Amino acid sequence: MGAGEGKEAIKRYIEDLRKKIHYHNYRYYVLDEPEISDVEYDRLFKDLEELEAKYPELITQDSPTQRVGAKPLEEFGTYEHSIPMLSLSSVTQESEVREFDERVRRALGSEEAIEYVVEPKIDGLAMELVYENGVFRAGSTRGDGKTGENITQNLRTIKTIPLRSLSDALPLPLLEVRGEVFMPVGKFKELNAELGKRGMKMFANPRNAAAGSVRQLDPRVTASRPLDFFTYGLGLVDGKEFSSHWEILDYLQKVGFKVSPLVRRFTAIEDVIKYHEEVQEGRDELDYEIDGIVVKVNSIAQQDRLGTISRSPRWAIAYKFPAREEFTRVKDIVVQVGRTGALTPVAVLVPVQIGGVTVRRATLHNEDELRRKDVRVGDTVVVERAGDVIPEVVSVIKSKRAGAEREFKMPDRCPVCGAEVLKEGPIVRCIGVSCTAQLKERINHFVSLRAMNIDGLGDKVIEQLVDRNKVSDAADLFFLTNRDLLKLERMGEKSARNILKALEKSKQTTFSRVIHALGIRHVGEHTASLLADNFSDMDALRSASYEYLVSIPEIGPEVAKSIILFFEQKGTKELLEKLERAGVWYEQKEKVAEDEEVLEGKTFVFTGRISMPREEAKSVVERLGGKEVSSVSKKTDYVVVGEDPGSKLAKAKKLGVKVINEQEFRAMVKA
Ligand code: IVH
Repeated sequence: MGAGEGKEAIKRYIEDLRKKIHYHNYRYYVLDEPEISDVEYDRLFKDLEELEAKYPELITQDSPTQRVGAKPLEEFGTYEHSIPMLSLSSVTQESEVREFDERVRRALGSEEAIEYVVEPKIDGLAMELVYENGVFRAGSTRGDGKTGENITQNLRTIKTIPLRSLSDALPLPLLEVRGEVFMPVGKFKELNAELGKRGMKMFANPRNAAAGSVRQLDPRVTASRPLDFFTYGLGLVDGKEFSSHWEILDYLQKVGFKVSPLVRRFTAIEDVIKYHEEVQEGRDELDYEIDGIVVKVNSIAQQDRLGTISRSPRWAIAYKFPAREEFTRVKDIVVQVGRTGALTPVAVLVPVQIGGVTVRRATLHNEDELRRKDVRVGDTVVVERAGDVIPEVVSVIKSKRAGAEREFKMPDRCPVCGAEVLKEGPIVRCIGVSCTAQLKERINHFVSLRAMNIDGLGDKVIEQLVDRNKVSDAADLFFLTNRDLLKLERMGEKSARNILKALEKSKQTTFSRVIHALGIRHVGEHTASLLADNFSDMDALRSASYEYLVSIPEIGPEVAKSIILFFEQKGTKELLEKLERAGVWYEQKEKVAEDEEVLEGKTFVFTGRISMPREEAKSVVERLGGKEVSSVSKKTDYVVVGEDPGSKLAKAKKLGVKVINEQEFRAMVKA
């Protein structure tokens, strides 16, 4: 065997390794169904790296080792698209989608059968990838549609963008693939947390994070960012004809691209509308942001006949979801004091409708967040309300500033009780022992379902009781009289009686619930039950040593310290004595056995605000054998509606699903 032949054999061997690695990349990143272990994959990769180090002349651009090869650029070059990248006209109303369907049918003639392909509208950035003979050659942004930026070296670093088409498909001389680069939501949150920790600028949303990451001049930075790519169409193609969009997606998937699993085909526009609703209901479960669906005429011949007007095709439309973000103005910034004394800055807004709900306040989280976003009184801001989470100020439109905006300074004393505040990391906390804001929150917690479970004591009642000095701690509730209650605003005989009854009933409870109700920092329901398992009664818990506490599995130093601190506090002893005097009497274990399965097999959907945290409601349902799901379907047993319910209520009514309110729900879970 001559030297040349040996080299040929090595070349073939290297080629074979590359093929294998490309294939396993595809299984892992695109399909999420790896066939080999990480260790086996790493071994293949390392073999290839070693061979390439030995024979650098055999390195090719499409080798899997070459994703992050290039050096940082001074600036991006431009890239001219061979076929303009169009945009979509978009609608939000059902009637407008029907009109789109009518226009299409009118243009094609009423006799003709029409099929639509529906895809999610990914909220990312449009890209074009050019493959020559199956090898990735260039990648660019959409730009103005005609000319974009050449960001080839950054796009190469994205693992779901194949460096070459899969080997068993015949490569085409030219294939221009179009799609969307995005950042998965979970990864976006991790990235932001990491940037925050390092004191670096964070991104407002996954789309901005994707945009900022894909336009880095140093491809190593892009490579370190969790970007992903979904394809949804083609540019210029040489060597193959397609007769339908569906066929295009099928082909793209076969040659190694990621196509959304949510893609569907429909013939009736009614079904498209139904699917829009279904996708909207499920959008929060997706790990990427979508802002609607895209409806495309499937047949390419029909697409060609329909053509394009200005810069959007007549054969496709974006059917968007109602916006979750709106602009509004910050009227004021106030501070809320929570149960643990944390001071949260809150923006008071000019009321604005977002997704069918009026938003008047939005959280600014903490001082660091407020500074980072530089929110000032008078600013025009973007407010986001996603699903059931608390509305949040996302960003400030600084160009709208007129000069009169006022910066906000966190108070150095508690705005409610005037006590000093202490800064713990980004959190500012009131250390006042008799702060009424904290007291109200503590009592709210004390009476809540998973704690003492006292019905009828809503936050309005608690607020009045505290403000009128009728209670100075949670135990005082048990000494309230009918007369005390009747003096409150909007309190009838019946409600007062019910409250007294509920108070009486709650006295017989479990040790673990009492511990939880005390509201010791870092002691949630789970830790409370651990403590109840390890101590016979409150006296034992009160005198527990730090050493003993940390010896309990799952109890760490921070929790232990917090427990000790709680029992050292002046008010605690008095509180416990009062509870005892009131006759609060607990058993070691909760009798759950008999009601354990009452919700067996039942599914619940929650919509709107209820007075207990969503997580809590969910765990009650689960503990009783039921299941909480996020979207309403015919299979849903109950939809629990709180204040300001969303579209789920309408859907429940439409499907004839039983709708109950919070009280009915509470009654049910207590059964
Ligand atoms: S099709 C001719 N399909 O939405 C059709 N676009 O204004 C052109 N987008 O720039 C695009 N998901 O960035 C299409 N499934 C999808 C899409 C999608 C997101 C974006 C894309 C485009 C914009 C349309």
